[in-house]
Amino acid sequence: MKLFVDTASLDEVKRASEWGLVDGVTTNPSLIARENVPYRKRVLEICDVVGPGKAVSAECIEPEFDKMLAEARDIAKWHPNIHVKVPLTPAGVEVMARLSPQGVRFNCTLIFSLPQALLAAKAGAKFLSIFVGRVDDMGSGEAFKTVEDAVDMVNTYEFPNQPEVLVASVRSPLQIVEAVRVGAQITTAPFKILEELFHHPLTDAGIERFAKDYQEALAHAARNA
Ligand code: E4P
Repeated sequence: MKLFVDTASLDEVKRASEWGLVDGVTTNPSLIARENVPYRKRVLEICDVVGPGKAVSAECIEPEFDKMLAEARDIAKWHPNIHVKVPLTPAGVEVMARLSPQGVRFNCTLIFSLPQALLAAKAGAKFLSIFVGRVDDMGSGEAFKTVEDAVDMVNTYEFPNQPEVLVASVRSPLQIVEAVRVGAQITTAPFKILEELFHHPLTDAGIERFAKDYQEALAHAARNA
């Protein structure tokens, strides 16, 4: 399973890359807006930090087909790591259908239902970004049913670019656990959620206990020497 970090902060991308387990980065206009840096510049900095072969998603802003097509063509040329993000709209689907046969890799974003995931898969998306947090925020409890169905769909049928289901809009480690359970190929999560994955009170207690036992054994050996 691939783990992406959902951020436009260079510090967070650096830190997550140092752990050696981050397979990619997802950005979006809201995340970039917080950083107060030009979009292209920041995306290129992220590509350099993560290194070759890691997927870096950069999103189109233009909603209309013609402008989105031009924007997607441009973004695709920024760096070999780039996956162009387009929303699940008729324009986004048409842009993917037009450019994916030419080798442009797409992350289709803002997917909330299985029919939407099907359209993105058929249009040639590489990643199907299903937003679970925004659905769970509404208290519907159905978010992972869509993810599970989409995983079944991509494992059952052939699509142009062998799409992978990407669990996005993650708010808690529990949602990552759920993503693993239903067999999602990728999860993207904010840096602070990835950090939380390390923690367990029994790990902390175990380290403390091992250190204490070891020190006691050393003291005992010294007394008996
Ligand atoms: C995914 O690619 C998106 O950037 C992200 O997960 C959106 O999450 P949000 O619902 O927290 O904005």
